[in-house]
Amino acid sequence: MRSKVEFVRGSHVYLRPLEREDLTERYLGWLNDPEVTRYMETGIFPSTRQDLEAFYQGIMGSKDQVVLAVLENKSDQHIGNVKLGPIHWVHRRTTFGILIGDKDFWGKGLGEEATRLTVEYGFRRLNLRRIDLGVFADHESAVRCYEKVGFKIEGRLRQDLFCDGEYKDRLWMGLLRSEYVPAKPEKRE
Ligand SMILES: CC(C)(COP(=O)(O)OP(=O)(O)OC[C@H]1O[C@@H](n2cnc3c(N)ncnc32)[C@H](O)[C@@H]1OP(=O)(O)O)[C@@H](O)C(=O)NCCC(=O)NCCS
Repeated sequence: MRSKVEFVRGSHVYLRPLEREDLTERYLGWLNDPEVTRYMETGIFPSTRQDLEAFYQGIMGSKDQVVLAVLENKSDQHIGNVKLGPIHWVHRRTTFGILIGDKDFWGKGLGEEATRLTVEYGFRRLNLRRIDLGVFADHESAVRCYEKVGFKIEGRLRQDLFCDGEYKDRLWMGLLRSEYVPAKPEKRE
């Protein structure tokens, strides 16, 4: 059995470094599933095993981006990834990205918790001051998830993205460390 490495722990998910063993057919399936990548630029071109390996090589040991695997506490299943990058150490800011690739885990609050854990890691451990992100304006679950964590809409880039045969607006959202409010700890059952 693989030993359980945890980097950041939450109530329902934990984050740990992405490992080569995570580069499975299942993971590749997420990247080529149009429903999963509908609102992502990943997925415009097909992804191959070699692409996944190149991505993995690119993040190994990098000090200007952090990619972490998201695992469900209960099952220890790899359900997606989060990313902070590129990190600008002078401006102390970065951009957040998330992929919950396993659709069975959507809509259960796990995306929100993974976002919170990543943001807290960015502010408390990396000493970042600002985290931002871009999102399709009509990607309701993502916008809601980010708003719940505290991200504010800072701008709208009109017709910036092409999806489902039409141009769509991109929202730019940002969160400052000074305004971040951690979630209340969950009551133990
Ligand atoms: C977008 C994503 C991160 C959201 O994570 P999630 O775990 O499915 O979302 P959560 O369960 O944490 O829900 C967050 C909020 O969105 C709401 N929500 C979930 N699905 C929704 C939907 N289809 N429409 C509207 N709101 C929705 C939830 O109800 C919750 O708000 P509430 O607590 O007020 O009810 C995840 O679905 C995902 O990774 N999708 C594929 C990749 C992707 O699109 N990444 C983001 C690119 S910007």
